[in-house]
Amino acid sequence: MNAPQRPYVQRYAHLGTGPLGTEPMTSPAYFERERELIFRRAWLNVCRADDIPEPGDYLVKNVQTLRASIILVRGDDGKVRAFHNACRHRGNQVADGCGKRAAGFACGFHGWAYDRQGALQYVPDEEQFFDLPKAELGLKPVHCDTWAGFVFVNFAQRPAWTLDAYLGELGTGLGDYPFHTLVPIARYQARVKANWKVFIDAFQESYHAAFVHRLSAAGVGGTNDDPYTHLSSVRLLGPHRAASVPMNPAYVPPPTEALSFKYASSLWLQADAREQRFPPGANPERHANWLFDINVLFPHFFIDVASGWYFTYHFWPVAVDETFWEYAFYMAEPQSAGERISREYSRIALRDVLREDHATVERTQAALMSGAVDRIWLSDQEIAVRHQYAVVEAWLSTPTLGPTPPGA
Ligand code: FES
Ligand SMILES: [Fe+2]
Repeated sequence: MNAPQRPYVQRYAHLGTGPLGTEPMTSPAYFERERELIFRRAWLNVCRADDIPEPGDYLVKNVQTLRASIILVRGDDGKVRAFHNACRHRGNQVADGCGKRAAGFACGFHGWAYDRQGALQYVPDEEQFFDLPKAELGLKPVHCDTWAGFVFVNFAQRPAWTLDAYLGELGTGLGDYPFHTLVPIARYQARVKANWKVFIDAFQESYHAAFVHRLSAAGVGGTNDDPYTHLSSVRLLGPHRAASVPMNPAYVPPPTEALSFKYASSLWLQADAREQRFPPGANPERHANWLFDINVLFPHFFIDVASGWYFTYHFWPVAVDETFWEYAFYMAEPQSAGERISREYSRIALRDVLREDHATVERTQAALMSGAVDRIWLSDQEIAVRHQYAVVEAWLSTPTLGPTPPGA
């Protein structure tokens, strides 16, 4: 069935239809404002709770955007907490990497020791100090909360909203997706020379697929009726957004993928998407030829869900023209050798697709930085791109936050 003609211009008329200026993608001053007014005020996903399942399990996360390092640790009470990775003695980082069942954290500089709840436990040669308020010298906490097994932090002194209020409709619609039944089968990371928004834009429209992915994903999307794989729906949800990507029902897999699918569902070939076992926020229109949904949790976190797999991206801005990117791909634990091979096929197939996107966004950024182009033109299919710039602008122009996160 043909997608309706230009369906979003009426529904989201307030976003306009004109070209966008490129200053937000190229200006170092604009980038510094984003750092403080967006990344220091938003809830930011950092990991999954089951990355640290047992008390004392921890991982250190370097949040380069805010020049911060934090420790995520599960306490004796089972709660996941976040702390600044900075010793209260003279500021040294107290942990590195990740670990299992740590009793706590001992600073490598002079041995101050903290327990799993961040409290200062032991100070070597304590008698030599003066009026040390030990009870107040625990690791400094960072606001931390969990939604659907995803751990988020907030670097504001006092977050303007709870995590649930921040995620709003996107959170309630997607929260029941069976994330906990799937395990990571691949993780990649990369430093990419592109502005974080330019980078994100390449993952929130399907217009480019027929060109950038013409070989790696040949025939997966696009039909005679819909050659450019129009999104089957786009939902703008406050600062967040979601879109559904359809699949070509006549897709004929290459022989290796066909073999892979013989034993298990794979990246492009899945169980029947019309099954109603998904939460309302996934494929909300129950599109028969559903491939996957793009979910953008503002500002920098994606959860793309399908039948039998999901993957996440983190786009951590480092500089106006550089982004640290992380990716994790989740499927069910394989139960047989055939399923194991199928997982491997999917892992590599998606890697190849992503490398094409990376090469493209670096070339885009290089051209934008030259100043040759000072406006970009967006089609109705690129409404999510338009929404992103409007939301970013709303956050930058809202010094005092209200009861709901600035959206557009
Ligand atoms: S800086 Fe940590 S013990 Fe001295
Ligand atoms: Fe792509």
